Amino acid sequence: MKAIILAGGSGERFWPLSTKETPKQFLKLFSDKTLLRETFERLSFKLKPEDIFIVTNKIYTELTHQEIPEIPKKNILSEPLKKNTAPACTYGTLKMDPEEIILVVPSDHYIPEIEKFWQIVETAEQFLKRNDGIITFGIKPTRIETGYGYIESGEQIEQNISIAKKFHEKPNYETAQFYINQGNYFWNSGMFMWKAEYFIEQMKKHALEVIEPFLKEKDIEKIYEQVPSISIDYALMEKADRIYTIKSEFIWSDVGNFKSLKELGVSNSKNSATIDSQNAFVLTTKPTIVIGIDDIIVVESENGILVCKAEEVEKIREALKKI
Ligand code: GDD
Ligand code: MG
Repeated sequence: MKAIILAGGSGERFWPLSTKETPKQFLKLFSDKTLLRETFERLSFKLKPEDIFIVTNKIYTELTHQEIPEIPKKNILSEPLKKNTAPACTYGTLKMDPEEIILVVPSDHYIPEIEKFWQIVETAEQFLKRNDGIITFGIKPTRIETGYGYIESGEQIEQNISIAKKFHEKPNYETAQFYINQGNYFWNSGMFMWKAEYFIEQMKKHALEVIEPFLKEKDIEKIYEQVPSISIDYALMEKADRIYTIKSEFIWSDVGNFKSLKELGVSNSKNSATIDSQNAFVLTTKPTIVIGIDDIIVVESENGILVCKAEEVEKIREALKKI
């Protein structure tokens, strides 16, 4: 098995900790290691560094290499343009032997239970040795969430593995609420597993405009000029012929924003004090005091200062356009 880490996201939601130059995967949110480093170490629990590939934007190639010096330089695949995850998955998969089973993972998730994670991954791998298809890793939803894809599970094939009847990327609030009430819908964790040849066959069938430039051109600059910008979820997952889902019962979070960071138990900076403030989240380098304001997020770094209501944290992106 080989693994591909997708590490080309831009990460504006963690400003001012993250910037375009150092997106979320380069942040040290839960330990003294970056999320990318934690992802690599989780994979290298069972895989050799030479079996791990990273697809990232060329502006992060050097930083990625510094962060993970164990991975051979040729395994860091640089994208000349940001075209979302479908081209990134295609670029990585086409480097592998057709028979190879590939695990694709994001670079910026919180998955602390490495052994449980591997139990599920190895069950998925065994399944793909016997069956053609794409495996998704389904997480039991705990709230109505519009930022994730949903997997509608159908007939159970083996213990913990079911046919995915349908894949629905990022529904609106009412639809997400409906899915959760059904009971047979899971969150897509953003990790996938496929055999290279099955992925290529499915891309040719359902997303030819994405894979064609890779098959026709040699020059990666030219390929990326031609390829459309689209996520793998829209390009393939919503259309593929055989998708399965494996019940993934390990602690998992996409760590989408500061609010989810607080919910995961990250504590306020040591040199801060809050008085008469419920749920204040303070991440600052300078001594900071918050008095009498509930549900507030205060983050400061050398890049800037953020003060916002916890509920409105998704508006950082919009606000950044103004400065
Ligand atoms: N190489 C590369 N190039 N990587 C990219 C690019 C790109 O252009 N764009 C995003 N990525 C990386 C990100 O760094 C991240 O690790 C991963 O691909 C997923 O991208 P996100 O942009 O974070 O996707 P999302 O969170 O909105 O949605 C996906 O993940 C959810 C779970 O976290 C989807 O797969 C959803 O269905 C899923 O629920
Ligand atoms: Mg994400």
